[in-house]
Amino acid sequence: KGDSGLTEVNLLKRQVSVLEGQLKALESSFSKYKKVIVFPNGRIVGEKIFMTSGYEGNFDALKQKCLQAGGQLASPRNAAENAAVQQIVTSYNKAVFLGINDIQTEGQFKYLNGQNIAYSNWQTGEPNNDNGVEDCVEVYSSGKWNDKACGERRLILCEF
Ligand code: IPD
Ligand code: CA
Repeated sequence: KGDSGLTEVNLLKRQVSVLEGQLKALESSFSKYKKVIVFPNGRIVGEKIFMTSGYEGNFDALKQKCLQAGGQLASPRNAAENAAVQQIVTSYNKAVFLGINDIQTEGQFKYLNGQNIAYSNWQTGEPNNDNGVEDCVEVYSSGKWNDKACGERRLILCEF
């Protein structure tokens, strides 16, 4: 009994070792295909993927399209994520709308989940609620943010 038990343990060890090798190969392959899939319309930052389809529309239309795709409008949470958003804006030479607005309470910018924003990159002098009608947030090719009327049309950028 002792011997056959050991043999079974060794067999399992060998199977685990094989699986470890297969997992490593799969991870490496997956990493490559992620890069292939986001080229040239998206960016990967850590666990997050930003992706545009080239569609342009107002805030409500963009928000709906991202939800429909199983994601949400881009909501950069730090400088690295904002840099990825900036790269897309620069590459398309078109500003995007973020998943951030102060529709509910003027001056209190929130994510689509209702939480107050924890990171921002406002252009100097923004947000200025120009004409009292700017509740959405666009990103310039500089990476800086401007509040802008939600009815304007901007490039879609979703995050997954
Ligand atoms: C405006 C300006 C302003 C900004 C507004 C924009 P416009 O552009 O850039 O600084 O705060 O959000 O609408 O209307 O003068 O072309
Ligand atoms: Ca503004």
